[in-house]
Amino acid sequence: MKRQPRSSPRSAKPRRSVSIVGTGSYVPEKILTNAALSTMVDTTDEWITTRTGIKERRIAAKGEHTSDMATKAALAAIEQAQIDPSEIELILVATATPDMYFPATACLVQQKIGALKAACLDVSAACAGFLFAVEIAQQFITSHTYDTVLVIGAEKLSSITNWTDRNTCVLFGDGAGAAILRHRGNGAHGVISTHIGSDGQYADILFMPGGGCRTPITRENAHQNLQTIHMSGKEVYKQAITAMLRASKKALDQAGLTIDDIACVIPHQANVRIIEAIADRLKIPLEKFYVNLDRYGNTSAAAVAIALDEANRSGRIKAGDYVLMVVFGGGLTWASTVIEW
Ligand code: COA
Repeated sequence: MKRQPRSSPRSAKPRRSVSIVGTGSYVPEKILTNAALSTMVDTTDEWITTRTGIKERRIAAKGEHTSDMATKAALAAIEQAQIDPSEIELILVATATPDMYFPATACLVQQKIGALKAACLDVSAACAGFLFAVEIAQQFITSHTYDTVLVIGAEKLSSITNWTDRNTCVLFGDGAGAAILRHRGNGAHGVISTHIGSDGQYADILFMPGGGCRTPITRENAHQNLQTIHMSGKEVYKQAITAMLRASKKALDQAGLTIDDIACVIPHQANVRIIEAIADRLKIPLEKFYVNLDRYGNTSAAAVAIALDEANRSGRIKAGDYVLMVVFGGGLTWASTVIEW
């Protein structure tokens, strides 16, 4: 079908095209299987598999931090894009688990890859962070501010997981994914539409209560696991489906496409039941979704970035394909983008 972008304040402006010219990803070596988890908390492989679809997740090594994983993913993306790190003008790291409060993890990545001409900042939008960062990157590129931006989603969720809470610890894992976004001439394939959104009214259904200035970790509260993920699973589940459906429709509408035009959907990798519900409501076969959560669990901001890299490198997405990426996370936050690959 010939695409006819809907008129909107954004599509009415002359736009520079923004292409993804390289992707990369990295997951730590250590695998934590459901069987191994069931020796740590009261759970079973059967419960985790049927309720979530997750079979195993990766856990960062001692001394391996978010910036280390982000750097490995970034270097793979740089290599595929065939650029020199000195060409990168902006580095965005989406993460809920920065190495430190400050400096930004993006600055640490900058140092490690030698992209010394770049401006650097972290993006805090929980699991939706990678697509928030893609939106920021494309705004800078379409406005002629920068030509080349490195976008990374990286997480060491194992560092904020309560390993005694079976409600949450079975869900999460560590890893990183990256993409190089670049203007490579008008008419080039690339990002067609983006949509981001938030609803702070639901801030308390997925959050980490401790460790910030509101509740610093002290000797007195250190045993309360306040510096770990707290979640109302059922509420998040419900909100996730609503948010991802709405976001998918927005990005498609803005792109002037229908779901039938999409060759591959790359969704946030939280729970296969959430993905099945979305496939059902959008009336598209589950086979159109790229799913790797069975191997990695939910790696938050890294999840779609890793999935995009795998789909790209395995040939699951091909030149000319329309790809829909859609995510949600704590905040609540949600985001979607349609890309002509
Ligand atoms: N192993 C075994 N039993 C478990 C368990 C585990 N790991 N975790 C919870 N249970 C138990 C509960 O205690 C509950 O027992 P009870 O009925 O005796 O109280 C029972 O299983 C059912 O729990 P429930 O919460 O109803 O399960 P669910 O079908 O809603 O699935 C989630 C739970 C967390 C998998 C699901 O709600 C979910 O995926 N939510 C979204 C989470 C998410 O995506 N978070 C990240 C957002 S970016």
